[in-house]
Amino acid sequence: MASLTGMKAGGFYDRHSSLQRTTFEAVYPQFAAAIATMPLPEEPAVLGVADYGCSEGGNSIYGLGRIVEALRARRPHQSIAVMHTDLATNDFNHLLGLLLNPDTATYAQKHGALRPGIFPMFVGASFYGPVLPPACVHVGISMLAVEWLSQPITHPPTDHIGIMAGDARALAEGRAQAEADWRLFLAERGREIVPGGRLLVSVPGRNETDWCARGPYDLLNRACRELVGEGRIDASRYAAFCFPVYARAADELATPAAEGGLFAIEHCETLDVPIGFECAFDADGDVAAYATALVGAWKAVSEPVLRAALLRPGDDPASIDAVYQRAEALVRADPQPWRFRNLEVSIQLVRR
Ligand SMILES: C[S@@+](CC[C@H](N)C(=O)[O-])C[C@H]1O[C@@H](n2cnc3c(N)ncnc32)[C@H](O)[C@@H]1O
Repeated sequence: MASLTGMKAGGFYDRHSSLQRTTFEAVYPQFAAAIATMPLPEEPAVLGVADYGCSEGGNSIYGLGRIVEALRARRPHQSIAVMHTDLATNDFNHLLGLLLNPDTATYAQKHGALRPGIFPMFVGASFYGPVLPPACVHVGISMLAVEWLSQPITHPPTDHIGIMAGDARALAEGRAQAEADWRLFLAERGREIVPGGRLLVSVPGRNETDWCARGPYDLLNRACRELVGEGRIDASRYAAFCFPVYARAADELATPAAEGGLFAIEHCETLDVPIGFECAFDADGDVAAYATALVGAWKAVSEPVLRAALLRPGDDPASIDAVYQRAEALVRADPQPWRFRNLEVSIQLVRR
């Protein structure tokens, strides 16, 4: 089951997902060290690398490409199956167009010439169920995807669209759903990843005092509420909605992983990853550019969910565009309340 249809398609997500790329860069060196020394099966076995939650592909092609290079550094002629997976409603066409674009070079081809022994594959399935055949993955990643719960919570916060901004009941429900989902995700990956295989999972998270993207959630909530007040968004739809996203603390990744018994924990950490547009704004103070970048990044991940949840049949689709226009105006008027802090929790696992 899944509670969304994917990110904003048609290349929009890829153009506005540099913070996800930066997060991968922050956690990858430690993972690369594990790939460099992990046991590999006897040649000529095919190795499998997989991304769970690949979206439109720019970051996935890059991340899995780094892993392909790390494995090829060990075995230059190694056959590798490269598996990009996401919901069936994801924009896989965009991913394919990027991967096989003859004007570029990717892990799969160089200016149209396919790389021998590299086999890209694409699967549309929820990662809260089986995605790939048993024991076919040697290295898996899932970047900023498992925070999306398998289903919405039943008691959304009053007057807010973020679970993390909610009351004790909303938070408890989010926490319980996130734990059940994470246990399920690990059980499914346990079937797909071979003994000795590695899995890296990073999700927007929280520390003792803050949670990832508090400012942007508040921003989108404020914009929605203004449009509800103006009669452009249905009040009951707004009241019934919150994003099915829960920001875990590091122990909310580590404890279920340890208890599940399928994986051993190699590394688990909480990171405060700098965001390019936040740093640029600190350096140049260009509030218009900042507003466009911040709202673009937020729109890329949130717009399809918001559109599906807030529009009744027959409602004006432009109302959702207006939410993001309002958000941009709010940032331009006063950027400080909405600043984006990129708190991520990351866990590196080895299949027992
Ligand atoms: C913020 S994007 C991250 C994409 C990519 N990993 C990156 O780092 O840029 C989250 C992705 O997770 C996917 N996703 C969310 N829930 C999912 C599920 N249950 N099964 C598979 N994919 C899911 C979404 O469709 C989306 O493409």
